[in-house]
Amino acid sequence: MSQRVSGYARKDADRYETPAWVAQVLVPHLPPRVHRIWEPACASGNMVCALLAAGFDVIGTDLTHGDFLERRDRAASDAIVTNPPYDQAAAFIEHALALVDVVAMLLRTDYDHAQTRQHLFGHCPYFAKKLVLTRRIVWFERPGAAPSFNHAWFIWDAAHRGPPTIAYDAPKKINIAKRNADAIATTCNDVAQKRASCFGNA
Ligand SMILES: C[S@@+](CC[C@H](N)C(=O)[O-])C[C@H]1O[C@@H](n2cnc3c(N)ncnc32)[C@H](O)[C@@H]1O
Repeated sequence: MSQRVSGYARKDADRYETPAWVAQVLVPHLPPRVHRIWEPACASGNMVCALLAAGFDVIGTDLTHGDFLERRDRAASDAIVTNPPYDQAAAFIEHALALVDVVAMLLRTDYDHAQTRQHLFGHCPYFAKKLVLTRRIVWFERPGAAPSFNHAWFIWDAAHRGPPTIAYDAPKKINIAKRNADAIATTCNDVAQKRASCFGNA
């Protein structure tokens, strides 16, 4: 078992189970033609449940059903969505892309930096979107310990054209930004009125 710099021992088979909110934020970013999703590393099914609750047909499999990388069928799905085991993430992405048109993988936010992975990102015409999670994922509760990694959803779509886009899951920040925008608008308005009263309207 490997050891992370943070001092956490990695769980066997990378059994980090994704909280429901992480799957929920992905939903509006999936192409509308997606109806049946395959979660091929589902563990106890956290993500399966969240996607079912969002209205998708979902099939969940894990090692007990066989190695995903050995599967040659697409399980009648039109999208593959998962949080892959970290040390097999590239193989999971490559294999998923060979099976279906739409793929979404939860990965560390800098996963797309490596030059060795550019065939999956910068050089991949199907790479459609990076959805940055501005909240850190708490994988398991440990008193006094805070999560140390940032994550993002990476989405591929064979129907995508053009460069990939970026989006942010930032519900609270949007409110703060709106308050700031309102404050700036008020200030600008005040300044405009002062200018008008000093110089008249040009
Ligand atoms: C990081 S956990 C993700 C759990 C779940 N997807 C979630 O987000 O809650 C990774 C899972 O991948 C499974 N796994 C590891 N290698 C696999 C493989 N080659 N094929 C299928 N599942 C695998 C492990 O058993 C583990 O349940």
